[in-house]
Amino acid sequence: MHNLHGNKKLTIAIGRDVPCGRASEGEDRREREEAYLAVRKRAEFYARLWGAPLVTLTDQRPVRSDELIVEFSQEGVALLADDMRSQGDFERILDRLRPGRWEHEMLVKATRFRKKEKTLDFRRQREDTAGSPCALKKALGMAEADAREAQSRRLSVLDATAGMGEDALILAAAGFEVELAEQDPIIHLLLEDTITRAREGEETYLRQLVSRMHLVEGNSIPWMRAAHPGCWDLIYLDPMFPERRKSALVKKKFQLLHYLECPAADEQELLQAAIGARPRKIVIKRPLKGPDLAGQKPSYRIPGKAIRYDVIVLA
Ligand SMILES: C[S@@+](CC[C@H](N)C(=O)[O-])C[C@H]1O[C@@H](n2cnc3c(N)ncnc32)[C@H](O)[C@@H]1O
Repeated sequence: MHNLHGNKKLTIAIGRDVPCGRASEGEDRREREEAYLAVRKRAEFYARLWGAPLVTLTDQRPVRSDELIVEFSQEGVALLADDMRSQGDFERILDRLRPGRWEHEMLVKATRFRKKEKTLDFRRQREDTAGSPCALKKALGMAEADAREAQSRRLSVLDATAGMGEDALILAAAGFEVELAEQDPIIHLLLEDTITRAREGEETYLRQLVSRMHLVEGNSIPWMRAAHPGCWDLIYLDPMFPERRKSALVKKKFQLLHYLECPAADEQELLQAAIGARPRKIVIKRPLKGPDLAGQKPSYRIPGKAIRYDVIVLA
């Protein structure tokens, strides 16, 4: 992995809150030492894996201005730089996603399957799918197939550009079984840690939501290309767009991620791979006035204040 991000050098750190146990006594001391060793082991593993230096943060050894730090502590994994700390936190958006509320999310509206939708025909670009779920749905007629599906299984979505997984959490709240792919190893680690903390946390509803989220590390393009046609009902794409770097859309909490994310260079391949995987719909997040992804006009758009969702309905 390349270890320069902007002007910052990737550094792995053991956080300040990790006590090494010396200050306490007896049982308490043993527990603290074990916790310290577990965090240290993890930090050492990633320092070796990514060929990055390992430091322990203290008042005498704070974060330096030329460092992008991946910090391991008892609170999980966080990204530190420029006096900021960024860590995934699903609980922060959970209230929006309670039953009766998630229905109002724009993303949920964009993913809704309607009875009659204007479709785009990409059939000539694909292989014969006779016998596949898509062909079966066509044979049955979509509405009847939907009803059968709803009874027999959850609808599935691939979030092919997972990032910090918040959109995926919204999709899980809407009832989807969500597969997530994240190609950047550091963002993947932060997201994996966020999911693990949610899974082990006190909040029952959140535990239920993350049990529907399945994360893999790597580029989703080869994965979509290799998938059985119709493998996912829906594919969701939210590649970073260049304007987002400067835009007010970049909330402070996510500013640090911009040292890691690169604007998508492979828009065309990403969209073609998604079309080739033959979901019923592809939903794409774009800036309100931004160009269509890979120049492809969607079936329809759902505009918001600052962003819009473009929806491609496949025939
Ligand atoms: C704008 S962020 C997505 C934010 C996400 N929707 C959320 O709710 O947090 C884009 C992410 O997609 C990832 N990405 C871009 N292209 C990818 C690909 N082909 N496969 C996997 N991840 C990809 C980037 O590394 C980045 O983390």
